[in-house]
Amino acid sequence: MTLFEMQQEILRLKKEKDVCILAHSYQASEILEIADFCGDSFALSKKAATVGNKTVFMCGVRFMAETVKLLSPEKRVVLVSPDAGCPMAEQLDTELLAALKNAYPDYTVVAYVNTTAELKALCDVCVTSSSAVDAVRKIKNDKILFVPDCNLGDWVSKQIPEKTFKFVSGGCPIHARVSENDAKAAKAAHPGALLLVHPECKPSVVALADYVGSTSGIVDFAKKSGAREFIIGTEISISETLKYACSDKRFYPLSKNLICPNMKLTTLPDVLGALNGGGEEIMLDDVIMRKARVCIDRMLESEKK
Ligand code: 13P
Ligand code: SF4
Repeated sequence: MTLFEMQQEILRLKKEKDVCILAHSYQASEILEIADFCGDSFALSKKAATVGNKTVFMCGVRFMAETVKLLSPEKRVVLVSPDAGCPMAEQLDTELLAALKNAYPDYTVVAYVNTTAELKALCDVCVTSSSAVDAVRKIKNDKILFVPDCNLGDWVSKQIPEKTFKFVSGGCPIHARVSENDAKAAKAAHPGALLLVHPECKPSVVALADYVGSTSGIVDFAKKSGAREFIIGTEISISETLKYACSDKRFYPLSKNLICPNMKLTTLPDVLGALNGGGEEIMLDDVIMRKARVCIDRMLESEKK
């Protein structure tokens, strides 16, 4: 089967089996092409809550499939590649979080969406990189315990100086690989380019950026900008996607090390395999579902305020 034939077979089967395919923007282009919806974590969580299909496939990592299940408990949610996890989501366990909550009893616990459903069940408000600043600003409490990404937390805290923040030392091992020197070297190599970075990067890298935002935020900024050249400080797939979307502009990855192996696990044959019974159906404990859902609903509600 050629790649094109496989894509055609996937499109035929997903229609026949009433499956909606969600793909995170870090997925390979052949997967983005067959997806019903592509986007960042926030866009996909919102979309998951509205689709009418009985089955939803997630081409992304486990916490994303769990988020879809939390928002659509009546649907069959399938993680296309069961080994695809996010190391950040596993960094903080429930015991450590319980200890932190004991140490800071009057703090509102804000969980980045890159956490397990089990952890979200113990937190107050969920945020994504694109919703974090707005959602945290709207929290009535001015004391915030932000978990697990201290880099994202630092970026949020700098925009809301009136609140007091506590962090843990977690984060994305892929984005954390980029150093201030990498950013300076990329700017020196491309002096006319704007530097766009994801807030999972270190504060010293974020400080040098012309724009900081989620994966979709970076894509939208580059598309709308009048500038011609951009250094892209997030997973390498975003520079590739942008080269197709804006063929008249130039994109340079901030570092060739910005590759998330977990996001690369899902292949087109895996999607076809899932349509033929493969993948893993996400099953969550009822109590965890109920409590974690409250945490996500607060993020979605805060957008309407
Ligand atoms: P977004 O919220 O930008 O989709 O990021 C998710 C993620 O895992 C980034 O590494
Ligand atoms: Fe997790 Fe980082 Fe991969 Fe995003 S890029 S899924 S945060 S490991």
